[in-house]
Amino acid sequence: MSSAARVLAAGAVASWAAMRLLRGEGSFSFDGKTVLITGGSRGLGLVLARDVAGAGAKVAICARDQDALDRARAVLERIGAAVMALPADVSDRESVHRLIAAVTARFGPIDVLINNAGVIEVGPAETMSVADYEEAMATNFWGMVYPTLEVLPAMRERGGGRIVNITSIGGKLGVPHLLPYSASKFAALGFSQGLRAEVAGDGVSVTTAIPGLMRTGSPRNAIFRGRHRAEYAWFSIGDSLPGLSVSAEDASRRILAAARRGDAEVLFPAVARLAVIATAVAPNLTASALALADRLLPGAPDHGTGRKRGKNSQSGLSPSWLTRRGDEAARRYNQIAPAEGSST
Ligand SMILES: NC(=O)c1ccc[n+]([C@@H]2O[C@H](COP(=O)([O-])OP(=O)(O)OC[C@H]3O[C@@H](n4cnc5c(N)ncnc54)[C@H](OP(=O)(O)O)[C@@H]3O)[C@@H](O)[C@H]2O)c1
Repeated sequence: MSSAARVLAAGAVASWAAMRLLRGEGSFSFDGKTVLITGGSRGLGLVLARDVAGAGAKVAICARDQDALDRARAVLERIGAAVMALPADVSDRESVHRLIAAVTARFGPIDVLINNAGVIEVGPAETMSVADYEEAMATNFWGMVYPTLEVLPAMRERGGGRIVNITSIGGKLGVPHLLPYSASKFAALGFSQGLRAEVAGDGVSVTTAIPGLMRTGSPRNAIFRGRHRAEYAWFSIGDSLPGLSVSAEDASRRILAAARRGDAEVLFPAVARLAVIATAVAPNLTASALALADRLLPGAPDHGTGRKRGKNSQSGLSPSWLTRRGDEAARRYNQIAPAEGSST
């Protein structure tokens, strides 16, 4: 390497280090902190829990399904984590109040809240009921607001704390066949961004995570309406496609790094960033592309809207070699109860 190249390389490393320092990266550690992760029993939440526990945090997780929680607790205890796994429904304000009181009583004040719990309903608009919209808003929006309002006063009083809100690319652009989900994620994103500005002066950092597709194995437990087998097939195949989706491990790494740095936003993978840029600079073109995509998706059936889980919507296309990576994620991230067997 020539000396000029060496000087340039040293300069680049120095400015990268200065940027990290300015953004506070490295100054925040999860070690010894109390971290509450909603929806930590499976999928991304479980990987986040495992990663913060590995970094020395006391970790509390919640979900509604006790069996999945027990399995998740065993996974976390195996790595030597101090763990609480509590049944709670984030769409119920009282339940959230009890959850946070229990965690605080045993682990002390919550230093980091990760609002991760979410539900998704897939199908054409004609098949969605008002209850589907209410369910999405209750979990994806109110389920973020309730825990936040519960922990915020103590964080403000202490002059510190981190809140990480897991939203979605579906909260940046309206996605066909995901209307309740998209609407609720737009609401969550607006809440998260505005909150960051309001609490910054109190030493509380809010990070908005905006993931595109992640291989968490979630399609198995998602809700499908209309031609549910065809809906499950396109959704689970998309979830498995290389380039379109990222692994849950990769997602967790990116989200926790952003939280450590105190970033306002983390948006990934590249294809999701491109979609956001395209929507901003060419909204009509993006709308046409989405309308075209909608035409390729299954139409609404003549009668019967149904409401089935992915695991009850299997076909020749899913599971298949096309969904291999997503199916593997379902096995790895606690999406399958032992009673369901090892079949996907
Ligand atoms: N997977 C993706 O491609 C993707 C992409 C973008 C954004 N996201 C977002 O990332 C987050 C995690 O996704 P994921 O794929 O890991 O989902 P997942 O595997 O379906 O896990 C969702 C978790 O939330 C819990 N949960 C759902 N409703 C709840 C409620 N009312 N109260 C308490 N817990 C509840 C679930 O447990 P119980 O059902 O037992 O309650 C489960 O632990 C979600 O917010 C999702 O919208 C996912």
